[in-house]
Amino acid sequence: METNNQWFKNATVYQIYPWSFADSNNDGIGDLAGITSRLNYLEDLKVDAIWLCPIYKSPMADFGYDVSDYCDIDPRFGSLTDFDNLVNEAHLRNIKVVMDFVVNHTSNQHDWFLESRSSKTNPKRDWYVWKDAKSDGSPPNNWQSSFGGPAWEFDETTGQYYLHTFLKEQPDLNWENPEVRKAMQDVIRFWFNRGVYGLRVDAAQLISKDTEFQDKVFVEGGPCNQMSPVSNSGFGPNFKEYISAITSVAHEYPGRFCMYESDPYKTWDVSHYLGWYDLIDSGVSAPLYFGIFSLTSNWNARTFGDFIENFQINLPEGAFPVYFFSNHDSARLASRIGEENVRLAAMALLTLPGTRIVYYGDELGMNNVHISPEDSRDLDKDEASNSGGRDGCRTPMQWSSDEYAGFSKHKPWLPVDSNYQEVNIEKMARDKSSILNLYRSLGNLNRTNPVLKHGTYAQVTQLCEEVFIFKRVLGDKQILVLLNFSDREVTFTTPWAEGRLLLSTIPETTDETKDLHYIQLQPHEGWIVEI
Ligand code: BGC
Repeated sequence: METNNQWFKNATVYQIYPWSFADSNNDGIGDLAGITSRLNYLEDLKVDAIWLCPIYKSPMADFGYDVSDYCDIDPRFGSLTDFDNLVNEAHLRNIKVVMDFVVNHTSNQHDWFLESRSSKTNPKRDWYVWKDAKSDGSPPNNWQSSFGGPAWEFDETTGQYYLHTFLKEQPDLNWENPEVRKAMQDVIRFWFNRGVYGLRVDAAQLISKDTEFQDKVFVEGGPCNQMSPVSNSGFGPNFKEYISAITSVAHEYPGRFCMYESDPYKTWDVSHYLGWYDLIDSGVSAPLYFGIFSLTSNWNARTFGDFIENFQINLPEGAFPVYFFSNHDSARLASRIGEENVRLAAMALLTLPGTRIVYYGDELGMNNVHISPEDSRDLDKDEASNSGGRDGCRTPMQWSSDEYAGFSKHKPWLPVDSNYQEVNIEKMARDKSSILNLYRSLGNLNRTNPVLKHGTYAQVTQLCEEVFIFKRVLGDKQILVLLNFSDREVTFTTPWAEGRLLLSTIPETTDETKDLHYIQLQPHEGWIVEI
């Protein structure tokens, strides 16, 4: 069982896209005071922590993933005082704060980069990755930016190229330089000293690159052709050392943890994710597991079960998984798996042991919103063409049926989904059968039921092709989770005699004793049963 300092090993983390959560000053952009004003809502959902997408000072070329000052808040979101207030108010409600930590690159407006690009002899020159052109003037190698085009930008002032794995406004830091590592460790201490309890480490595998800077072989037929050469350039020979520079700071403070963004283009490869655990300190950190995230067209019990089982059973002793279905880079869950499946997804996610991340708005079943070219904000047009755009999953939270869904009194930075009169928190909170109330019931069970809170995962032989079943076990207490992934009613027999139904995805009497010899599940129905 985990100790109090390992609270994150069985915890629900709620991901907030600060631009879109709640706008307190009515400028159309969400802010920290807005988040603070909605903490009671998150307390009711029983989330253990909130992960804030970047709130640092930034020119916002990549909506905060281009940081120009790691130790300040962007004025659009408020101030450090607003941040301290948010942390204090969150702690009063038993909610911890997790920061996004952008490690691979800064903004090209960061003082470090402005110094670095000023001359070849500047002391910060080596804080970024500068290389000479090839003899014909072309970029130093064939690496491609994950946002399209070459990953190198020529800088006239000093006549060299700098590396940018993402936008040219996001130059890559050079982690080979010990001063960079030390500066980044100090940034972590700055936030941990302010009461932050965890980090979501952005694009973590890229901090150690191929030190030879060789051309990469183009991976034909990869899921994202642009990405392939660059993603191959991660996991360099010093990866373990640089990652441990981050986790060693987590060890200086009790109860701190790190989640690493791992390669989202290896979703099908369970062993890739298991491999992470050999390279990191798995007592306090884990990769974000993109396995179940990738189940879009393949939503079935067998595939889901394989992703979970292979991963869960092979996790090293003491390690923990981080599960999630959606984030700010991909189409909304409801739009990917279909609205009829979102209740089952909620039950699956919130009954698995480990760190579970709920993306804001998924608890309402929010859809991906079609954003017209005029309203589009994201510069990652490449990603947009692959997945239907990142703007569509970043639209304002739907709080009520008031104008702009109660997010703001001002026209928001991205349009609100036209369904907000129906899909909003105020309305769904009153409807006992809403998906929001299912999330709340799952949150309550996770807080009150020791087996769900602390129990280990146990495999169950599949008894029905359409149904994925697993157990949570604590001492002699057991909970069965049964998930019908299909759109038809299924019946099957089991070896168990009877059990108490704690929750069904289809609102019905809980606390009901069920004969488990013969189980009947409705289409898309899930059960949590105490046996
Ligand atoms: C983040 C993206 C961001 C990129 C560059 C990612 O993986 O999730 O939103 O654009 O890193 O920082």
